[in-house]
Amino acid sequence: MPREVTIAPSILSADFGHLAQDVAAVAEAGADWIHFDVMDGRFVPNITVGPDVLAAVKAATSIPMDVHLMIREPERHIEAFARAGADVITVHAEATTHLHRTLTAISDLGCRAGVSLNPATALEAVTHVLDEMDLLLIMTVNPGFGGQRFIEPMLSKVSDAADLLASVDREIHLEVDGGVTVSNIAAVCQAGATAVVSGSGIFKTASYAETIREMRSLVSRP
Ligand code: DX5
Ligand code: ZN
Repeated sequence: MPREVTIAPSILSADFGHLAQDVAAVAEAGADWIHFDVMDGRFVPNITVGPDVLAAVKAATSIPMDVHLMIREPERHIEAFARAGADVITVHAEATTHLHRTLTAISDLGCRAGVSLNPATALEAVTHVLDEMDLLLIMTVNPGFGGQRFIEPMLSKVSDAADLLASVDREIHLEVDGGVTVSNIAAVCQAGATAVVSGSGIFKTASYAETIREMRSLVSRP
């Protein structure tokens, strides 16, 4: 069966003055997940939102919340995000000392567990925790802001990641995040992504539905 690609618009480029409405609109327009970017101003230079805003956004739609924690010591906050309605909680391998323990804790909270790798971080960082993972998030920009340029050399890292995940007997989503638009989504999925995040590539376009439809037509497998 051809596997449809999961499209996850990221809130970073949404209208923060009407966040719940904008999230409801993009869900209505055909998004599969909402990618919820959390930033602490320490792990990345920007500060965004926390669990209370997640709870408000969760109430605005029934599609899954794909929470991306770009924060130091994420283990201190996973329970709050789980309680607020996270479906997937992704932590950065670079931000937690005990990654195996953190992933186990996320699963014990009933959420799917993800690991994100910054562009400079090798795939080997996840070799020993594949059995604890439900999702691998490959950053194709340096995290912190929306609207950045896709770092082209990351495409080979995506295909290496696809090979790595194909070698384990476990369903692990390969999600790509940063600079993904209609202009490169086909190449990203060709490289093996099963889920794509797009912030400005969706929220900064005239019609969310049109953009998502175009993205799906570009990636639908024969
Ligand atoms: C960046 C975030 C991304 C970002 C994607 O640190 O993790 O999710 O919002 O935004 P675009 O698609 O505009 O690069
Ligand atoms: Zn993100």
